[in-house]
Amino acid sequence: MDLRLSDEHRMIRDMARDFAQKEIAPIASHYDETGEFPHETVRKMGAMGFMGIEVPEEYGGQGLDTLAYVLALEEISKVDASHGVIMSVCNSLYCYGILHYGTEAQKQTFLRAVASGEVIGAYALTEPQSGSDAGNIRVTAVRSPDGSYYTINGTKSWITSAPVAKYIVLFAQTDPDAQPRYRGVTAFIIDTDLPGFHRGKTEPKLGIRASATSEIHFEDYRCPAENRLGEEGEGFKIAMAVLDAGRIGIAAQALGIAEAAYEASVQYARERYAFGQPIGQFEMIQQKIADMKCRIEASRLLIYQAALAKEEFKKTGRRYTLEASMAKLFASETATWVTKEAIQIHGGMGYSKELPIERYFRDAKVTEIYEGTSEIQRLVIARLETGLR
Ligand code: CAA
Repeated sequence: MDLRLSDEHRMIRDMARDFAQKEIAPIASHYDETGEFPHETVRKMGAMGFMGIEVPEEYGGQGLDTLAYVLALEEISKVDASHGVIMSVCNSLYCYGILHYGTEAQKQTFLRAVASGEVIGAYALTEPQSGSDAGNIRVTAVRSPDGSYYTINGTKSWITSAPVAKYIVLFAQTDPDAQPRYRGVTAFIIDTDLPGFHRGKTEPKLGIRASATSEIHFEDYRCPAENRLGEEGEGFKIAMAVLDAGRIGIAAQALGIAEAAYEASVQYARERYAFGQPIGQFEMIQQKIADMKCRIEASRLLIYQAALAKEEFKKTGRRYTLEASMAKLFASETATWVTKEAIQIHGGMGYSKELPIERYFRDAKVTEIYEGTSEIQRLVIARLETGLR
């Protein structure tokens, strides 16, 4: 694995780092506290091209590779994980699916608008009764007799960015008799300004509080047939393939959170004195620092490996599901563990809202839950490794 960063990679990483430090760092704790959506900084991120990093320039994106995306997302998430997930969903869950499965017309309209930062995109798979069991979809899409539109009814839940999204990639059941049920799932691109689309209340959350999450409801929503993404019955595979890309993004988000907590801990271990010496000279703190560093660097290697595997996929078509799941599993569990240890190192100050350490801890937890829980990542990895189901 060649880990040397190109000039282009360094440039996008530095750009994201500067932007995050100048624009996001001063406002991150305010938006965490209030739970408001940070419209202005998100708009600026869009204008800088952070919402469509891998999308070719002809569709309004930056035309860069997965490693560039990962590096930028890591830097944004290091300062604020809420901005990180908004960026990740636009890039991976929304743009990636339309880039790979969309028609030319869909790319020109729906991909361009999000990749160029004009509007926000979202992805709606989860339903109140189906989270991990993603194939068990109850939202229905019924084709009109003349085939020109689909009538969509039902509810999706826990949809990141739904309160602010203009377009949403939606998965619905077009063949309720299909066996297994996932073979009846079809993907659609939803324009949230059309009649029949409703947003539920924004979820109050433990962490990533500045990212907006809600239910969405469809009541006889008419989706034009030309907004179907892929073929009928192809939706579940699209959802899964898109999640492979998304999981690399969440892994990069987790890495950013862990790095922020780690750097603060190293600084604190140097500056905080106890019993006449910096606490970093105590072996119990040294052990924590060493283990945090090793787990973070191991996460980074798994993430970069997954990014390279995704680039290979573009050339060979070989799925990178295993690499993506390993990166997400390890990086998210690392983020949760590192942020917990960071609070311990900081003692009372780690528990105080005066420092961002407790925010890192709250933000980290969701990376073990969304885009497939740690249990689902283990299931995916074990199935692929053993060939057993
Ligand atoms: N790429 C392409 N195709 C895939 C695939 C992938 N990664 N994974 C599975 N498939 C295909 C399989 O080959 C199979 O195809 P065939 O019918 O041709 O055999 C089909 O899909 C069904 O696969 P499985 O039998 O493995 O399906 P399953 O019902 O056993 O489910 C699962 C597998 C791994 C449990 C899956 O349901 C899953 O990943 N669940 C977690 C869902 C999830 O991550 N939700 C997150 C919601 S989004 C979110 O969180 C966004 C946010 O807020 C930020």
